[in-house]
Amino acid sequence: MRMAWATDIHLNFLEHHARALFFQSIIDCQPDVVCVTGDIAETPSLIFHLHEMEHALRRPLYVVLGNHDFYFGSIEKVRLMVQEWCQQHAGLTYLSDKKSVELTPRTVLVGVDGWGDGRYGEYWESPVRLNDQACIEDFRGLDREGVLRKLHCLGDEAAESLFERLPSVMSSYRQVLVATHVPPFKEACWYEGKTGNNDWLPYFTCKAVGEVLLEMAQRHASCQVIVLCGHTHHAGSVQILPNLKVLTGSAEYGQPRIEHIFQIE
Ligand SMILES: [Fe+2]
Ligand SMILES: [Fe+2]
Repeated sequence: MRMAWATDIHLNFLEHHARALFFQSIIDCQPDVVCVTGDIAETPSLIFHLHEMEHALRRPLYVVLGNHDFYFGSIEKVRLMVQEWCQQHAGLTYLSDKKSVELTPRTVLVGVDGWGDGRYGEYWESPVRLNDQACIEDFRGLDREGVLRKLHCLGDEAAESLFERLPSVMSSYRQVLVATHVPPFKEACWYEGKTGNNDWLPYFTCKAVGEVLLEMAQRHASCQVIVLCGHTHHAGSVQILPNLKVLTGSAEYGQPRIEHIFQIE
């Protein structure tokens, strides 16, 4: 089983021809399935891009959504829209809406959108303001405290969803791939070969998801967990525990690419 992984492909920044070339580059690698860890497009064109990509690839496409996918929309409505679309299109799976997907008898794929939850770094001192706060309905009109509460809430929601789903899959499979948009540890928040910038960490790590992953990996020591994430657009990998590894994918606007092809047993 070969799985192609890409992240932060931001298809809305590409012309039709460039998108077709990207899809062909994936097909040329002959994967059995494809996984994309968020920032696929923006709300107004998201379904169009998901549909076009699924149609072009002609093999199962598994996705989670990133912050950009909610731009010019609201989080709940976009999630519902993608859930409904995926329920009618067998080739496309929204992993956040599915307990898990068996890839092989020993490996399972689980996914959750994830969100920078404001808990690492220095939220109150940080001069960073993401476009999220202007472009996603849920953040409009919130003051700094309201934004932080919302970030906590989104992080907790992702963590709870994993907390419910991981125990049974980790008892049944030897390897779990966890697809999520936001790095769950500060050690996985890469930028130009370094990690852990206090100004960016609040928006670029999901501590709540990291805590669930740590607890689950410790509880199920015989199960290998590999986390696939993006969002920082800078690549790196870190071994958090002997059985918990996080791969953060790179990205460049206008130049989507495959981050890695996994050979899965
Ligand atoms: Fe991105
Ligand atoms: Fe992102």
